[in-house]
Amino acid sequence: MEIVITEAERIGALVADEVQALLERRPDAVLGLATGSSPLRAYDVLAARVAAGTVSFAGARGFMLDEYVGLPADDPRSYRSVIDAELVSRVDFAPGAVLGPDGTASDLDAACAAYEREVAAAGGVDLQILGVGTTGHIAFNEPSSSLASRTRVKTLTAQTRRDNARFFDGDVDAVPRHCLTQGLGTILESRHAVVIATGFAKAVAVREMVEGAISARWPCTALQLHPKVTVLVDQAAASGLELTDYYREVAEHRDAVR
Ligand code: GLP
Repeated sequence: MEIVITEAERIGALVADEVQALLERRPDAVLGLATGSSPLRAYDVLAARVAAGTVSFAGARGFMLDEYVGLPADDPRSYRSVIDAELVSRVDFAPGAVLGPDGTASDLDAACAAYEREVAAAGGVDLQILGVGTTGHIAFNEPSSSLASRTRVKTLTAQTRRDNARFFDGDVDAVPRHCLTQGLGTILESRHAVVIATGFAKAVAVREMVEGAISARWPCTALQLHPKVTVLVDQAAASGLELTDYYREVAEHRDAVR
């Protein structure tokens, strides 16, 4: 893992730089898109760069990580609506280029299997943007998720429903209990994973993800098995880490070996 400890305000531009470099190298790249608060700044920067003509998503495709069960796609709280509002409508993806799991399907298991086939047919995800939940989830892989899991139905923890109630006017009971989520095994197949975490609330999950033992108790620890992960954290999210001096030293000298 590459651990970058920096100011929260810089993280969005650093993620946007990764996306832009990939799209310059590979205009038909496949992007993995997270919802939640963590990537919003990066999406703002990318929208500004598209408006300025410095980057284009015209040949790219996108796959969402997860979706609530039972919220229609046009419900503003569905992840489909959120990604449309925060990114898709502000950049120049071709129509239909961004797909997500269908949380309204009558056969949810079949929808999950179909989604896995779509990701595979696109050649897999080149760059996966990730946030991390306070329970240690990535996408919606809550504690006890199989490290080999694929896209499937999951039950959200009470903690995650409380954390996400802010998107439902503070009403925990309005937060769906179930979701569809890419599995940890699915996410581990992405070619590069970029994790964004800011604030003290994420410090324990970040500590486990980077320095903890690999365990279904902290699903984000599965990323230790991923060949290429960049973790972008602010000082607060990094506050539980033991080896920060080493991570800073690596960052300082990394140009010497690139
Ligand atoms: C949410 C989403 C994840 C997100 C994570 C962190 O519940 N399912 O995709 O990365 O939890 O959320 P946030 O970025 O809002 O802190």
